Amino acid sequence: MNLERVELILDGPVARVWMNRPEAHNAFDGLMVTELRKVLFDLRSEDAVRVIVLGGRGPSFCAGADLAWMKAMASFSRGENLLEAQAMADLFFTVYESPKPVVARVHGAALGGGAGLVAASDIPVAALGTTFGFTEVRLGIIPAVISPYVVGRIGESAARELFLTGERFEAVRAQEIGLVRATVPEEDLDAAVEGRVSELLKAGPRAIAEAKALIREVAWRRIEDVQRYTVERIADVRVSPEGQEGMRAFLEKRKPDWTG
Ligand code: COA
Repeated sequence: MNLERVELILDGPVARVWMNRPEAHNAFDGLMVTELRKVLFDLRSEDAVRVIVLGGRGPSFCAGADLAWMKAMASFSRGENLLEAQAMADLFFTVYESPKPVVARVHGAALGGGAGLVAASDIPVAALGTTFGFTEVRLGIIPAVISPYVVGRIGESAARELFLTGERFEAVRAQEIGLVRATVPEEDLDAAVEGRVSELLKAGPRAIAEAKALIREVAWRRIEDVQRYTVERIADVRVSPEGQEGMRAFLEKRKPDWTG
């Protein structure tokens, strides 16, 4: 696939996915949504890839949806408008349920849908000085398709304040409310990201995918309702080849085969 808005670099077990529309702060239009979703979706079946790093080329991580594109929806039919919104929702879901862990490398600005991508990723690491915001209400719109990921991550309390004011906030506050996992000076951002990547590479790739699915299944559910599911998952995973190899390696005081 010829990519215009996204750059994909395969770097051994790490796929580096760059939003690549720097002149517009990586604001995403229909083409960016399609390309980003396809790249992330196709990585699911790349067995050699174990970790995805998502970042933005140029001055910003991502300034959210392209406002000219969203504004143009007024001349679309209701059906077309819904299809475009669904495509955007699919993009966030593809990030969220990627079986490979997604580390977001966040700098500059992460606004609207850009902050949504941060929320949908697994481990967002931000440069100090990054500006965040759910600015939609200031534009007369709402942070709709990103809301499940953001509310899941920062909770209702912070969402009520930040969705309703649309105010911008900086990286330290983003960390306080749980939107990002770590903040570092910009010059240390790549090292901090690589630190997360190397921790993830120590884990069994199938176990990571299973652990992600587990979190998705148990979040917000009554223990009684998920207990049987958790029992079945551990019963399956501990007898799987990867589970057996991981435990055998521990007992034999060696590294498991996936650490290369
Ligand atoms: N949609 C479309 N274009 C956007 C955009 C967006 N979300 N964000 C930035 N751009 C464009 C600007 O229109 C400008 O285009 P131009 O050069 O043709 O005039 C270009 O990117 C540079 O933006 P500018 O505002 O001049 O740069 P800046 O460095 O002063 O500020 C931002 C960068 C990202 C902080 C600022 O552009 C911004 O706040 N953008 C709006 C983000 C937003 O609210 N997103 C939520 C969408 S739901």
